[in-house]
Amino acid sequence: MDGSYSNKRYDGLVDDRVDEGVFRVDRSVYTSQRIFEDEIKHIFEKGWVYLCHESQIPDEGSYFAVDIGRHPVVVIRQKDNDINAFLNVCSHRGALLTPKKQGKARTLTCRFHGWAYSVDGRCVRIKNEKQGFGEENFDRSQYDLKPIAKIANYRGFIFGSLVNEVEPIKTHLGAASTWIDLMVEQSPDGLEVVPGSSTYVIRGNWKMQLENSVDGYHVSTVHRVFASTVRNREERDSLKGLKQTEGGRLVGTVPSGAYDLGNGHMSIWAEHTTPERRPIYKKKPWLESNLPAAKVEWILKKGRNLALFPNVMLMDNPSTQIRYVKPVSVNRAEVTVYCIAPVGEGTEARAARLRKFEDFYLTAGMATSDDMAALEDTMTGSRAMQARWNDFNRGLKTMTIGPDEGAKAVGFDPVSSSESWENETLFFGFYRRWRKMMSNIPD
Ligand code: FES
Ligand SMILES: [Fe+2]
Repeated sequence: MDGSYSNKRYDGLVDDRVDEGVFRVDRSVYTSQRIFEDEIKHIFEKGWVYLCHESQIPDEGSYFAVDIGRHPVVVIRQKDNDINAFLNVCSHRGALLTPKKQGKARTLTCRFHGWAYSVDGRCVRIKNEKQGFGEENFDRSQYDLKPIAKIANYRGFIFGSLVNEVEPIKTHLGAASTWIDLMVEQSPDGLEVVPGSSTYVIRGNWKMQLENSVDGYHVSTVHRVFASTVRNREERDSLKGLKQTEGGRLVGTVPSGAYDLGNGHMSIWAEHTTPERRPIYKKKPWLESNLPAAKVEWILKKGRNLALFPNVMLMDNPSTQIRYVKPVSVNRAEVTVYCIAPVGEGTEARAARLRKFEDFYLTAGMATSDDMAALEDTMTGSRAMQARWNDFNRGLKTMTIGPDEGAKAVGFDPVSSSESWENETLFFGFYRRWRKMMSNIPD
């Protein structure tokens, strides 16, 4: 199979004939090694990708290591509070500069031969420089770290690009920016990543993780055990208030919706019938006196999952999460989860947020493992090329082109709106973006 595609034929892998009632994707997009390699080069290394949250690099010299495609990158807070990112690669012989995921330093020193770099990327020390280069005033600047082409901060979320030819971040995020705003505006001081994270590897393709995060259709089957377990626990222990879990969305009995937000971004929501069980409910009076009523309604009453093309998901349900996906190989994806929370939230709400995070989102929680099993089954089945197509037609006949009333109320303009989170029309946008970035690849 691999190698049998001409670049032009990538176009044919997304069968986009919505007027005829057809939108389907060839399952080789999950299984072809060649496609995977082109995705790394043409999606991850030629467009915006999410890097980290600004709260993860709070002080001068705080750094966070991440990857853009095959390029290790280190994001560093500067003296003037600005944020820069460099290739995390020593200029001498190419060793990984910092192997740590996160830290704080005045200089980054290479472990191989000891060259050192300041936080602004200048090469400030070469071991035995004079003996090696024989000059009193040797110009070390030729060995400064290489900055990445673009870095942008949208309300605390840091994005980077290896190429200059990308649209402004606000244009790239488009309608999705309102969904970020709905999280950020929950506190006058924005959001913070709670210390700690959890990383695991899925035996599946990276796109399956993105799809899963905005697939409302699976919730009432894959997570029914979670729903019954928490219900039993609540009855057994007579749990009340914040200690209870919102269950309506898990059994598929509440109003919901889905959006193709454009540029590959997607989102789903489901109504919370018991919003008082959410940590954010404690801030209801503050929200009501500081935000428009429609925004408060969205924040308090609608659980939301947002997938930003191509590598991060932001969830705001009973708990709140950044879920970051790193493609490792065609059939392996590394996922890291972080709890993110409004700055300054009270102790009781923060504790509840963390317990709910552990319950559902954490690797050892009761939901993530079920999702992984479903994704890995899908990966196995996708190898059967005699069953070639993934149909994403569910909801095609009922979708609304443009915004529905809910979107209009808070002012975002999706490509399409769907009246149920079980519909799959939001994936049109993801695969149209995928096709656009994978088309016209020079041979
Ligand atoms: S590779 Fe870094 S100092 Fe030699
Ligand atoms: Fe799930």
